[in-house]
Amino acid sequence: MKVLVIGGGGREHAIVWKVARSKKVTKIFCAPGNPGIAALAECVAIGVEDISGLADFARKNGIDLTIVGPELPLTMGIADEFARRGLKIFGPSKSAAILESSKVFSKELMKKYGIPTAASRIFTASEDAVEYLDAIGFPAVIKADGLCAGKGVIIAETRDAAMRAVTDIIDKKIFGAAGKEVVIEEFLRGEEVSILAFSDGETVRVMPASQDHKRIFDDDQGPNTGGMGAYSPVPFITESDISRIEKEILLPTVQAMKKEGRRYVGVLYAGLMITPKGIKVLEYNVRFGDPETQVVLPRLQNDLVEVIEQVIAGSLSSVKIETAKEAAVCVVAASNGYPGDYAGGCVINGLEDAGGIPGVVIFHAGTKRFDGKIVTAGGRVLGITALGNDLQGAITRAYAACRVVGFEGMQYRKDIGKKGLDVHSAKA
Ligand code: AMP
Ligand code: GLY
Repeated sequence: MKVLVIGGGGREHAIVWKVARSKKVTKIFCAPGNPGIAALAECVAIGVEDISGLADFARKNGIDLTIVGPELPLTMGIADEFARRGLKIFGPSKSAAILESSKVFSKELMKKYGIPTAASRIFTASEDAVEYLDAIGFPAVIKADGLCAGKGVIIAETRDAAMRAVTDIIDKKIFGAAGKEVVIEEFLRGEEVSILAFSDGETVRVMPASQDHKRIFDDDQGPNTGGMGAYSPVPFITESDISRIEKEILLPTVQAMKKEGRRYVGVLYAGLMITPKGIKVLEYNVRFGDPETQVVLPRLQNDLVEVIEQVIAGSLSSVKIETAKEAAVCVVAASNGYPGDYAGGCVINGLEDAGGIPGVVIFHAGTKRFDGKIVTAGGRVLGITALGNDLQGAITRAYAACRVVGFEGMQYRKDIGKKGLDVHSAKA
């Protein structure tokens, strides 16, 4: 089979790496890819938003299956266009991708179908929000409805900060049309966990749980980022938690989408908060997570392409997900200054030596080739990933690799996976 993967970050490197292990696959293309991906796939210079260009490429090159990494093309309708042209693609239709592209839609869906989530209300006029804010208290969470490149969620500590956020979004339109409506919701306390599942529209199959680290600095300090690292498994999620998540969140979501005439086919990502009052949905994403995929796929024992074929055929019920016992840790190496401004073009050293450490894979996120060398070309540069016999083993290996790789100004968190270890020691 010939497979095309769409995207060019760490998540897509992990997808390509996993697809390369499929016994069914003879050739992989990636659009646009990156220098790490180029070791496994032929990279083609087509942007992720060039839907007709991608569909033309797939048709001309006899692509048997296209796998979409990022949300943007999904929310633009890439799955619909490929389907219209009779091309096989893995990812939800535009009408189903609304689960990520509209927070108003997803909150209303959860409310209508009794899926546990934070109490919330929707506002289109800033002056109406005050009363509700006072009722739920502070901190309060303000979310712009649409996609805002990860910046659309504001945790407001005070009434003033909350009102400022509402005015900025609704009246000053800092997010444009994405902020025509805002969701205001209660602040939930607890641990966040990411659950990724396959859905064929009827059935779900859950992949191993993982935890992202959103803040830039150790101990969850500093501003939010696209994700500074992840680990899997997550020891504070038990088997029975997973089956409750499946029965009370994932399946009801997929069934609700079907009832709404928005059959959901693809990866359903539930961002969950484990609260003292139960497990609640923070958000849905309609794709693999980044950097969660970098730890989930190395633990998935199944042939990814075979699973995807069953999803597309509507026969996911015949699939049993097999997970490796090993733990996985991904430490993101970022540019100096990220998540603020940063410079690119720094030469990256030690990639081969680090990749040679047993159990270590270096996924490229923001890199490019320049003058025969691999240089930084993004905020998040590498996902330094390791498998180990247990979480501590994976952490040790990943950080050994971090010490071998280097570029000017490289910054990374030193505590990825630590929360998982703390759970172990608390139980011991
Ligand atoms: P979202 O895009 O909705 O996941 O929001 C981004 C991040 O904001 C989440 O990963 C959480 O860390 C945080 N967040 C979102 N909603 C809430 C909430 N209701 N309570 C506490 N934190 C939240
Ligand atoms: N790790 C967060 C995301 O993929 O949206």
